[in-house]
Amino acid sequence: MTTAHDILRQAPVVPVLTIRDLKQAVPLAQALVDGGVPVLEVTLRTDAGLPSIRAIAEAVPNALVGAGTVLNGEDFAQAVAAGSRFIVTPGLTTSILEAAKGSPVPLIPGVATISELMRARDEGLSCLKFFPAEASGGAAALRAFAGPVSDVHFCPTGGIDLNNLEQYLRLPSVLTVGGSWLTPQDAVDSGDWDRIRSLAREACARVKQIREPAGDTP
Ligand code: 3PG
Repeated sequence: MTTAHDILRQAPVVPVLTIRDLKQAVPLAQALVDGGVPVLEVTLRTDAGLPSIRAIAEAVPNALVGAGTVLNGEDFAQAVAAGSRFIVTPGLTTSILEAAKGSPVPLIPGVATISELMRARDEGLSCLKFFPAEASGGAAALRAFAGPVSDVHFCPTGGIDLNNLEQYLRLPSVLTVGGSWLTPQDAVDSGDWDRIRSLAREACARVKQIREPAGDTP
């Protein structure tokens, strides 16, 4: 079974997509994949969210598409039925836990505090979204969490972009980071897929530079 860890390890970064027009879903996903970013979080914040997940799952074979902004068990079930390969939530509720327990699709729940982190860990969840990252203490908070709890991993999201991702990626507990900076609304609305592809490439290059500094042996 593919775990959340397996999925996030494949992600240089995780773009958070809020798709307003279903027609944009496939070319947007294709541009991100072509730019080197295969793991995509499509939020359920718009009516186009679920159909976009379905369309990407069917038409972009190299994309690994998951659902974000999953708020309850019903959302979870619908997202899985649409073809989501992973589920991201902003927080953790009983309804979400119930849905996740019977599902082969991995859950990446949002946590912002040490108590939430401990609750998720009690439930056997060890791959977590740290959200909203910047507003919840940023990389300093994650560094502090790693004192008492060092066996969980994170995808911090919320307020992260090229300017501050390094401080997160330097932490051993961070697998990758997420954010919406790769998909500016004006570029999506105008179908500027070249710009999206360039933003994806730029993010990959930056992550590589941080993870594999020049001079390191392969
Ligand atoms: C999310 O849902 O994960 C956030 O809205 C993405 O945060 P950002 O827009 O600050 O990157």
